[in-house]
Amino acid sequence: MKIAIGADHAGYELKELIKAHVTKMNFEVYDMGTCSTCSVDYPDFAETVASAVSQGLYDRGILICGTGIGMSIVANKFKNIRAALCNDLFTAKMSRLHNDANILCMGSRIIGSGLAIEIVNTWLTTPFEGERHGRRVEKINLIERKVIDK
Ligand code: RB5
Repeated sequence: MKIAIGADHAGYELKELIKAHVTKMNFEVYDMGTCSTCSVDYPDFAETVASAVSQGLYDRGILICGTGIGMSIVANKFKNIRAALCNDLFTAKMSRLHNDANILCMGSRIIGSGLAIEIVNTWLTTPFEGERHGRRVEKINLIERKVIDK
């Protein structure tokens, strides 16, 4: 699985930890910035990661900002993106089982690094359940097409 990861200045340090962890899990990780704690704008990094996942260049994305909210708002503007803001384990698990989320957003100012790593482990290893949830995800895709055509 190929994973794109990005963060703003608030998420930079957690991104570095997650990147090292996910690399150790033997996933292919591509870091799309930011590269320091200098102030930047989260939409720029959400756009880079979400656009790459939307185009199929990466299977999944991970985005980190202070709360995860800004990243999730931006990422969900992109076609084929189901970005889930998960600052707890249950949400991370359900976002995969029921929503087939392909981008994980987290808030570095909300959760500690230990919990963040557990969230990533759960999110990367939980499969999509399909069946009735597949029908619902397909309805999301239909809505996306209708909105784009308007
Ligand atoms: C940056 O201060 C902060 O607004 C950003 O990291 C994020 O929390 C936005 O949603």
